[in-house]
Amino acid sequence: MSVQVAVNGYGTIGKRVADAVAIQPDMELIGVAKTRPNHEAELAVENGYPLYAAIEERVELFDDAGIELAGTVEEMVDAADIVVDACPGGIGAENKSLYEEHDTPALYQGGEDADLVDVSFNARGKFDAAAGADHVRVVSCNTTGLSRLLAPLREEYGVEKARVTLVRRGGDPAQTGRGPINDILPNPVSLPSHHGPDVNTIFPELNIDTLGLKVPATLMHTHSVNVTLESSPDAAEVRELLGEQSRTFLIPEGSGIDGAGALKEFAMDRDRPRADIWENCIWSESISMEDTDLYLFQAIHQESDVVPENIDAIRAVLGTADATESIELTNDTMGIGF
Ligand SMILES: NC(=O)c1ccc[n+]([C@@H]2O[C@H](COP(=O)([O-])OP(=O)(O)OC[C@H]3O[C@@H](n4cnc5c(N)ncnc54)[C@H](OP(=O)(O)O)[C@@H]3O)[C@@H](O)[C@H]2O)c1
Repeated sequence: MSVQVAVNGYGTIGKRVADAVAIQPDMELIGVAKTRPNHEAELAVENGYPLYAAIEERVELFDDAGIELAGTVEEMVDAADIVVDACPGGIGAENKSLYEEHDTPALYQGGEDADLVDVSFNARGKFDAAAGADHVRVVSCNTTGLSRLLAPLREEYGVEKARVTLVRRGGDPAQTGRGPINDILPNPVSLPSHHGPDVNTIFPELNIDTLGLKVPATLMHTHSVNVTLESSPDAAEVRELLGEQSRTFLIPEGSGIDGAGALKEFAMDRDRPRADIWENCIWSESISMEDTDLYLFQAIHQESDVVPENIDAIRAVLGTADATESIELTNDTMGIGF
């Protein structure tokens, strides 16, 4: 029996999660919900996804636009075994009572506060803790990227302290109203940025400080990472460990990939849907050890790295697979790994 999955909020994250659900052998996408009849509503219909109105009073707008609806969001949530809420940050919190009324477990995204949920999730760190939970938050793109990097380092070497500077894109490509424009902002200007405490929702004991900046870029985030390890492997060993992880891509030396633009080109050339890069992209040459200090640069595709994590979180909550099985199945179906 396939798990019946609904996606509430069909935007940057929601449409990617919907596509990923639709190709899972153990899941069925029963519908997506939107508030407006725009081009993304048309896309849902073109893809054959039942489209539900997120706001009942707006049903007429869909009728006027000639876009056929399958019903209202309440009906969709009621029919689902689990709902993935991919609404803008803060709207997920407003939707919580809807999911409770229908007794439907819900996944939220990183724009929601950690205290909204029972468990914050990353497949590499918190898979088992999500079993049977009613409200689970898949952590943000940056926290996902950091958790994936820190998990193997903790397991293999132990982490004394992590210090990360996050150079964050000002907005996604379609977010025309976002900035900065021609500026570089310490953001937040106070320390630590929220990312370190957010990583602690996955690894509570981890000693981590983070600093954030925002730059006028849209393609990816870049992290400048320093991790003081509890032992002193050489750089080649760390390179091997990180290369073995299924959701990290070590950018080969000599590949000519010098930044986010080239990474996106690399993904487009390999026919990735929407040029998505689900993996952490770590520059192999940057991996360096100074005594017990590890240094590296990694790029994170903000629009897509959380998508496989949402798929794994569905199985984790419903108990339909263990972490290893789920990660392997998600990777296989989505084609993760360059
Ligand atoms: N984009 C990223 O880089 C990124 C990365 C990781 C995590 N996240 C998190 O993922 C969540 C979603 O972000 P996003 O970037 O996907 O936002 P987005 O592109 O703005 O998509 C959200 C969609 O939700 C729809 N929506 C708004 N209000 C709604 C409601 N009441 N019910 C149902 N749908 C509603 C909006 O479309 P309509 O109003 O047209 O229906 C919009 O297309 C946020 O928590 C965000 O922090 C985002």
